[in-house]
Amino acid sequence: MSARFLILTPVSATASFSSSVGATNRGAVKGLANRRAGFFHILPGVYFVHGVGGKIGLIIYLDGEYVPEERAKVSVFDHGLLYGDGVFEGIRAYNGLAFRLKEHLERLYASAKHIALEIPLPMAAMEEVVLETVRRNDLRDAYIRLVVSRGKGDLGLDPRKCPRATVFCIAAAIELYPAELYDRGLEMVTVATRRNVSEAVNPRVKSLNYLNNILAKIEANLAGVGEGLILNHEGYVVEATGDNVFIVKEGALITPPPYLGLLEGVTRNAVIGLARRRGIEVREEVFTRYEIYNADECLLTGTAAEVIPVVRLDGRPIGSGHPGEMSKTLIADFHRLTRTEGVPVYQEVTPGEENVSCQASR
Ligand SMILES: Cc1ncc(COP(=O)(O)O)c(C=O)c1O
Repeated sequence: MSARFLILTPVSATASFSSSVGATNRGAVKGLANRRAGFFHILPGVYFVHGVGGKIGLIIYLDGEYVPEERAKVSVFDHGLLYGDGVFEGIRAYNGLAFRLKEHLERLYASAKHIALEIPLPMAAMEEVVLETVRRNDLRDAYIRLVVSRGKGDLGLDPRKCPRATVFCIAAAIELYPAELYDRGLEMVTVATRRNVSEAVNPRVKSLNYLNNILAKIEANLAGVGEGLILNHEGYVVEATGDNVFIVKEGALITPPPYLGLLEGVTRNAVIGLARRRGIEVREEVFTRYEIYNADECLLTGTAAEVIPVVRLDGRPIGSGHPGEMSKTLIADFHRLTRTEGVPVYQEVTPGEENVSCQASR
């Protein structure tokens, strides 16, 4: 595995601990976020910047405190680590606006409910944790990872031995790169690893147990392509390793229904809203690879990758083999939406008109 896939060693922390972002701080925001110490890789073209300017480490929220990353440590007895027992969210902030924060928090709490995990903070307090973590790192464009694990217990798996959940939040700079991948489109293969059945760990739960997806990602890596298409045990298309999948056929936008065994993506739902706003017919429909091979277009959606066209599946070109018009339109619409809608991180950020009613919700 290439070094690009490793999280780089933390750099020393000298970041400010002030909770308010004053005028001077604000002025430094863009510059800070634009300098880079290193990055780690999650998708072709998606890099999380780790550390800023080669000197400044991140400030992490951990169980009620904001601490430098060197001090952000969880116990080796934490069941999130020992058993993957916990839930998480990946959230983006664009230009000082936390995109669809409410939807992400609702999914986090719904996932926790499914695994009978009590989150020790009400949702409003959790929202403030997310916003404050972005502020403490002086970021305007950020990838935010919010994690709630079962907490510290003993070596047995019984969650009753874990009296209190562990909560942490990381906000890091992110850069989508290279842009040409979005212009050229992505290649995907169908992986042999099937989606685990909903009667086991339900894929609608965004749990810390991502091995099913990781096995699929390894297959895509070995095939030398950007993404892996996951089918369920009946051979129906569910999603990619970290993204939802759409096809375009005869002017309609079609995506599998969540009950089939997929995460109901926040980006997926935003794209459905954008398409409907344009009068495009959107259908949740069960389909197989045949429908992708014979689609006019195919695209993936996810918080990290945003909206990205897929131009080949299993060596077959999809449509013209180039990103199609509907994909390009939805990419542009999504970019516009993310820059105008969201929860303001800093007081001076006023969302655009479109934020007022969050119309792109489904
Ligand atoms: C398995 C899986 N499917 C789909 C998605 C896309 O969801 P979202 O748009 O909320 O990021 C993700 C990303 O979190 C994911 O991990």
